[in-house]
Amino acid sequence: MRGCLQPARWLTTATLRRPLLSSQRLPAISCNQHPRLFHHSPIFQARQSSKPLSPVEERIDAIPIERYRNFCIVAHVDHGKSTLSDRLLELTGTIKAGENKQVLDKLDVERERGITVKAQTCTMLYNYEGEDYLLHLIDTPGHVDFRTEVSRSYASCGGALLLVDASQGVQAQTVANFYLAFAQGLTLVPVVNKVDLPSADPDRALEQMRSTFELDVDKAVLVSAKTGRNVQELLPSIIKNIPAPIGDATKPPRILLVDSWYSTYKGVILLTRIFDGEVKAGDQLVSFATGLKYIVGEVGIMYPNQTPQSVLRAGQVGYIYFNPGMKRSQEAKIGDTFTKVGCEKLVEPLPGFEEPKSMVFVAAYPVDSNDFPHLEESINQLLLNDRSVTMQKESSEALGAGFRLGFLGTLHCSVFEDRLRQEHGASIILTPPTVPCKIIWKDGEESIITNPSHFPEEDTLRVKVDELQEPYVLATITFPEEYLGRVMELCEANRGEQVSMEFFTATQVILKYQLPLAQLVDDFFGKLKGSTKGYASIDYEESEWRKSNVVKLQLLVNKIPVDAVSRVVHSSQTSRLGRQWVTKFKEHVERQMFEVIIQAAVGRNVIARETIKPYRKDVLAKLHASDITRRRKLLEKQKEGRKRLKAVGNVVIDHKAFQAFLAK
Ligand code: GTP
Repeated sequence: MRGCLQPARWLTTATLRRPLLSSQRLPAISCNQHPRLFHHSPIFQARQSSKPLSPVEERIDAIPIERYRNFCIVAHVDHGKSTLSDRLLELTGTIKAGENKQVLDKLDVERERGITVKAQTCTMLYNYEGEDYLLHLIDTPGHVDFRTEVSRSYASCGGALLLVDASQGVQAQTVANFYLAFAQGLTLVPVVNKVDLPSADPDRALEQMRSTFELDVDKAVLVSAKTGRNVQELLPSIIKNIPAPIGDATKPPRILLVDSWYSTYKGVILLTRIFDGEVKAGDQLVSFATGLKYIVGEVGIMYPNQTPQSVLRAGQVGYIYFNPGMKRSQEAKIGDTFTKVGCEKLVEPLPGFEEPKSMVFVAAYPVDSNDFPHLEESINQLLLNDRSVTMQKESSEALGAGFRLGFLGTLHCSVFEDRLRQEHGASIILTPPTVPCKIIWKDGEESIITNPSHFPEEDTLRVKVDELQEPYVLATITFPEEYLGRVMELCEANRGEQVSMEFFTATQVILKYQLPLAQLVDDFFGKLKGSTKGYASIDYEESEWRKSNVVKLQLLVNKIPVDAVSRVVHSSQTSRLGRQWVTKFKEHVERQMFEVIIQAAVGRNVIARETIKPYRKDVLAKLHASDITRRRKLLEKQKEGRKRLKAVGNVVIDHKAFQAFLAK
């Protein structure tokens, strides 16, 4: 199985294109109530009622499914997918030239960071040799954390452009995404981008594609997405090479839910791929996953914004929302199949998607505890758009009520945090990322814990636990040979074990290492980039659980553990982290009227300690030296005061101290 980020079984296009077995073959007639669906087609009805269709709809209506092409662009991060998408949108007249940059990167965070996080889709109309074609482009993210988005997009496609930067050549994610697309039976069209760059070496890129992927590079198209050079050659190539989707508009509807997002006015909007049948406003749909029924309020295409249509037909990718709107995000289960009410028995639901697994966990708390309901609302809305995030409520003594969130990786996590801040203005405290830990109990049971507060206490560990394990990944790192020494050093320092080393051109190395995931989430990307001047790329897949000496490191303030800060870490990390914690925490805690002891500890074993001296209020300043009784009394009183303060809820630490401590 590929990737901690990669669900095991996806609905493959190969599966979809395979003819149905005779037992699966469904009658061309539709549900009881609707003897012939296409007689109910709104286009048909619109003609009958002479309701005018928009020019775009007129064109789409005349295009048979054989002239549909659903495709995506597969590439390593920054190789130019979004820029190329813009050019294709311009060439097909979907947007005006120079009108908008990176149309498909709709989220602010995407524009700011220049990365694609959410897969977006866009419909285009293209006239080739006198005939109109309906193209659906699905822009996919290239970063390793967003593998699920990529796979989800593939399920709606018949083919993909395999895009490689002419100066960088094949990179780690090109390799990983290629295998994903290949496994799903997608037809691949090789494209070399950025040929305008002085450092471009398209021949080398082509040779790498040929030797690494055994692709027929004679079909490759060399382009510059930036200048637009030769991009016009791509559309005919897509039409000639990528197969049309297979589907039957006369059958009962079979609608796959590919993605969803939330609109305040319309409720949940569903992005769907219609496999069979057609759907229009007024239809009553039922979800196979939940059994819930809805009345369709509007259907339409992304062109590139939501553009209402009177019908969506088999083969198309488009949006649907309901009236009354779907209010709860939980009802929109990605991978679910919808059909018309009454057709449930005639339709076999599509295999759907498996839930992605979260591998990196953080706790999130509102800065002001009164903001909790708002934070909850914000997270819920973001979850609508990003199903790969898991959420559980949790509460910490120090930080109050909050959430434990699970992500596919650290970039995924920081993008989510940015989106919370940008889209909802929520101000949050996030704990450092942690990875799960597996406990093998002496009675043979196994449990996986994602929250350090569930880690067994010392006594339980000794008596009941047989073994502790941590997740490992198989990392594939590519980089120029001159950095070999440094990369190996970095991997070894991060408890890595070398698996293999290959040269895929005279100067490029592919190094494979078994690495603990915990090390990988601890800014391994940053360190790798640092030691290779940014030339290395990395991809990883889930490998195995390995026996490991993991322990729970706690931060204690006057002997009381600060629950929000504890972490399960490898024992080799405790002294470095412990020292770091106490030094950093000391900086952010104000002096109190009594002594504050900050410790980092594993069980009863203290690893590091810092002390904050108390203010010593000089209560004796105004007294005459001989007044001994008065003197003693005052000192006693001061001591009492200190005791009381300590006893009352121990140390009162400002929220800001946690924020500053937890800030990266
Ligand atoms: P992700 O969404 O993060 O996966 O990136 P992407 O693959 O969509 O790349 P994007 O289109 O954002 O391009 C990355 C950078 O490369 C941008 O600065 C583009 O302007 C630049 N770029 C894209 N195509 C070309 C090209 O043909 N020539 C040159 N010189 N630069 C290009």
